Amino acid sequence: MDERAFISPRPGQAAARGGERPLLPLDVSGLVYEKGGQRIIDALDWRLSSPGISVIMGPNGAGKSVLLRLVHGLLRPTAGTISWNGQAMSDDLRRRQGLVFQSPVVLRRTVGANMRFALKLRGLPHDGAAIAAALAPAGLAALAARPAGVLSGGERQRLAMARALALSPQVLMLDEPTVSLDPASTAAVEALVATARGRGVKVILVTHDIGQARRLADDVTFLHRGRVFETTPAAKFFNEPASEAARTYLDGRILL
Ligand SMILES: Nc1ncnc2c1ncn2[C@@H]1O[C@H](COP(=O)(O)OP(=O)(O)OP(=O)(O)O)[C@@H](O)[C@H]1O
Ligand SMILES: [Mg+2]
Repeated sequence: MDERAFISPRPGQAAARGGERPLLPLDVSGLVYEKGGQRIIDALDWRLSSPGISVIMGPNGAGKSVLLRLVHGLLRPTAGTISWNGQAMSDDLRRRQGLVFQSPVVLRRTVGANMRFALKLRGLPHDGAAIAAALAPAGLAALAARPAGVLSGGERQRLAMARALALSPQVLMLDEPTVSLDPASTAAVEALVATARGRGVKVILVTHDIGQARRLADDVTFLHRGRVFETTPAAKFFNEPASEAARTYLDGRILL
């Protein structure tokens, strides 16, 4: 994988770009999200102010994916407020963030055409060289002519991440990017995440993989039943989590 293509300074990569306001801190206050009579996010308070990789952990159904969609502005809160450096979500703010879903969507066309579509939509250069440069960091340049529909799970995930990163986000949110990937593909995705961090991109990563969280996290937020139980520096979280719920989860015991 050619990481240099990623690290080489391009305008607009850092979290605080020249002329553009930083997006941090993220402040979430009293956030409620109800759907179908169910309270999915329950008076949630959350603050992320540090750069680097923030990992979100918590059991199935805790509300992790819904929370990402809320802070990215894809879902409208039932109540509460979300602000990025004091600003409410807008189309402009959303364009400065990337969100890669649990099952990323790719278009029914080649890998290269998927990348061209994303670059063109954003008004960025989208000739062959630009497409190759955007695919290279994910190790996908040689697959440009392949139909995206036949990609393996790991390749598809890397395409989705390369596509998001090519748009130079200040914040990149990843929802379980390595589920069902083998160790080599997981390592490739983790390298992309680490590279993004090295470029100054704020990463918010949902994972169930405790090893991955240990390898990547700068801080960990533990979510359970639609509430944040703690946001703790990673070293401390894994040794002595602040909440009983996180301790139970890390011990592999069932969380009720
Ligand atoms: N559109 C919806 N309508 C009704 N319920 C929903 C909707 N979206 C999510 N939920 C419910 O909200 C809860 C939280 O869902 P969410 O997908 O955020 O969980 P998660 O923490 O990401 O879990 P997992 O680890 O399994 O991905 C679940 O009980 C889910 O069934
Ligand atoms: Mg989820």
